[in-house]
Amino acid sequence: MYLESLSLTSFRNFASVSITPSKTVNIISGANGSGKTSLIESIYCLGFGRSFRPGTFRQLIRHEDDQFVVFARLTEQSGEKHQVGYQRNHAGEVQLRIDQVKEKRFSALARMVPVQLMTPESIELILGGPKVRRQYMDWGVFHVEHSFYSDWVGFAKLLKQRNSLLKMKRFHQEHRYWDEQFASFGERIHAHRETYVKGFVPVLAQRLAEFLPNYKFEFQLRSGWEKGVSLADALDKHRDQDLRYGHSTVGPHKAELRILANGEDVKNLLSRGQLKLLVAALKLVQGEYLQQKTGVQCIYLVDDITAELDSVSQEKFCGALVASKSQVFVSAIDGSDVSTLLKTDDTRMFHVEHGTVKEQ
Ligand SMILES: Nc1ncnc2c1ncn2[C@@H]1O[C@H](COP(=O)(O)OP(=O)(O)O)[C@@H](O)[C@H]1O
Ligand SMILES: [Mg+2]
Repeated sequence: MYLESLSLTSFRNFASVSITPSKTVNIISGANGSGKTSLIESIYCLGFGRSFRPGTFRQLIRHEDDQFVVFARLTEQSGEKHQVGYQRNHAGEVQLRIDQVKEKRFSALARMVPVQLMTPESIELILGGPKVRRQYMDWGVFHVEHSFYSDWVGFAKLLKQRNSLLKMKRFHQEHRYWDEQFASFGERIHAHRETYVKGFVPVLAQRLAEFLPNYKFEFQLRSGWEKGVSLADALDKHRDQDLRYGHSTVGPHKAELRILANGEDVKNLLSRGQLKLLVAALKLVQGEYLQQKTGVQCIYLVDDITAELDSVSQEKFCGALVASKSQVFVSAIDGSDVSTLLKTDDTRMFHVEHGTVKEQ
């Protein structure tokens, strides 16, 4: 899918702007503090319901205003057109609209707007804890394995309930029924992830052979409990420990996606620049795999591309972005630096200045 138009009202430093992006490459230029990241952030919000920057949603609302609105017209690969809107006020009230009809579930909007983001902080995907990699993997599982979401919602409820019982040091015979449910939802989540990783890794390996040809990469999915044991048995085994700690120590909420190069943890072997290129490949390929499996193209958002990658890496990454034929939004202080790498029949340049966006 791609955005045909994007309108922001009272979002960050934008009072009111509208753009008509290209369905391929869009380059957003402007000085520091002009609003490049904010523009990218608004698109991210449509796909995730929240920002990727720290802080509360209130910081997204333009100072002195009461609510922000992000509105977009989008076209799916089938040619079908939709309108989506996301609005949030100071009190925290959210209004979502799909084709002018109020929508309660954010997941409905997220499903329509698959977004991959690359920023200078994306290296956290490697350097951060398992949670970031779980979230990364689950984005793909969510978009490719459609029944994953209801299992995930069901599991999240059970986990919350189980943890509150454990916190109160209560766990009686009758709670075993809940553990059975916990185990069956948990096993299903793992099965979805396993299927996804199995299909996704070969596509990733191809891309990495091109981006970082001197390494042999390996991806290991860890379920979140002991190998070769059912989750039900693992729960039995860890129940006393869980009661002592006051939370659930095993389950798919503890899963990990390990990334190895030549048999070693990548963060101990690769340079920072190489890790960034690895992250670029991870982001890129999730979009490619989505397209292979479902025919849907995601939107790639790349903030601050020149700060992110050296010139050889930029060339590889930009070449792949152009070849993906997906809609891309790339920000850079000076757009002309990257425009030659991102040439398409319809590359559009937008300049951001004092809360306005002008097509160049
Ligand atoms: N809620 C807000 N209301 C008004 N201005 C804001 C708000 N949040 C951030 N800003 C300002 O918006 C400007 C744009 O920030 P940003 O998008 O990060 O710029 P860039 O990525 O181009 O460097 C900054 O000057 C920042 O101070
Ligand atoms: Mg920025």
